[in-house]
Parts: sequence; C-alpha cells; structure tokens
Amino acid sequence: MDGETFPRFPTEPLLPTEPLFPAGQLLPAEPRRRAEPAPGAVHLPDWLDAAEQRELVEACRAWARPPAGMRTVRMPRGGVMSVRMLSLGWHWYPYGYARTVVDGDGAPVKAFPPELGELAVRALAEAYGPQLPGITGAVGYRPDIGVVNHYPHGAKMGLHRDREERIDAPVVSLSLGDSCIFRLGNTETRTRPWTDLELRSGDLLVFGGPSRFAYHGVLRTLPDTADPALGLVGRLNITVRQSGL
Ligand code: SIN
Ligand code: MN
Repeated sequence: MDGETFPRFPTEPLLPTEPLFPAGQLLPAEPRRRAEPAPGAVHLPDWLDAAEQRELVEACRAWARPPAGMRTVRMPRGGVMSVRMLSLGWHWYPYGYARTVVDGDGAPVKAFPPELGELAVRALAEAYGPQLPGITGAVGYRPDIGVVNHYPHGAKMGLHRDREERIDAPVVSLSLGDSCIFRLGNTETRTRPWTDLELRSGDLLVFGGPSRFAYHGVLRTLPDTADPALGLVGRLNITVRQSGL
C-alpha cells in the first residue's frame, strides 16, 4: 500500500538540526542599504571597495607628512582636539580658512588633488541620483577643500556645523578604518532631533540641501573594527567641500 511505503513526513528534517544562531551568538546585522537620515543627507554604505580604501589610506599617509602635514589642533580657548587634522587646498583652522598653516608650521597648504574632486563629484551623483538638481550647489560642484581627520583610539569630535565655507554646496564625507558612531543633528540646536549612524570603512555620507548646516559630530570610534589589511590604527575621515572663496 502507498500509505505504508510512501513516507508521511519528509525524510529530511524541515529545519536544520543545528540551531542557526546558537545561544549567545549575535543575530546577523540588517543588510546595510542607502539611507536618508535627514532631508539632503544620504548614507551609502560600502561605497569604496577595498582597493579604493587602501589607495586613500596611502594618499592620507603621504599628505600627513610635513610640511603642512597632520597636526594637533588647538582651540581658541586653549583646549586641544583629540582628533588630528590636515587640510588640502585651503587650510582649515578654528575658525576660518587660509592658504598657509597659520596655526602650525606656517607652510603653504598642499594642493587640492583633482582626483579627490572627481571622487566627490561621483559621490554626489551616486548619493543623490535624480534628486541632484534639487540640491543647492550640487550641479557644477567644484570642490576645492579636503580635510582629513585622524581619530586615534578614544578620540571624538563634538557637535558642530561646517560653516566656514562661503557657499552651501554639499559636504562629501568618506570613512576609513575603525567604525564610529556619527551623530547627525538638526540645523538649529545641538539638541534632538538627531540620528546616530554607524559609519564603517568605505562608507560615504553626503550632507547638502536642508542638511548642509546641520550639527554633526563623532560620539566615539569602535576600536579595532577595521580590516587589519588596511594597515591603519584608528579611523580616518576625509571631508571634501567647496569653499566659495
Ligand atoms: C567632521 O565633521 O569634520 C568630521 C566628521 C567625521 O569624522 O565623520
Ligand atoms: Mn564637520
């Protein structure tokens, strides 16, 4: 009889006998996709591939050499930033731009590399897509400033607005090395509403349009989260901007 020879139940168990996620093991993270944490702000995870990340880290190493290399930044009231910085094209200091390292070795700032400008133009096109014409300064974007921040373990950056530029073209931000918790706030106050994002190596964040002058900062980095093959201790962030100067 059929009923005796044909198994009533599948011979293979429907569920694997081993639990998929044994107790104590983290569930896999949500896949990371394009996100728009605020109007005009776009997060594209994993935008740079491993080779592009390595190339940028090497470029930062070269830019970091003196003269006009990586420096410790003193604030006007005497504090010292935990993040170390270098600039390309225009030298950023608290709070302005100059052609020489006025608060450091006095050397002329290194030239803004055209490849970094091309990368930033592509970043805007890919982040905004068809919305690009609606973002002030995105069409005909001509960035001329690169600011590279190095976050050693324990470094962070308080909430601030990027407002030393004379125009409101978008800011392009690239993350390399250790992940961080980045806070994107609002344009009015340092208080809520805000969105906290995890930025990982290779991620792109652009903030333009209604978010161009939003408060933002880095609450903390997540030490040793980077791929050791990158050969980087801590986190690097490169922001590309148009000065309007
Ligand atoms: C900055 O606001 O200049 C840096 C932001 C970041 O490190 O992600
Ligand atoms: Mn900033």
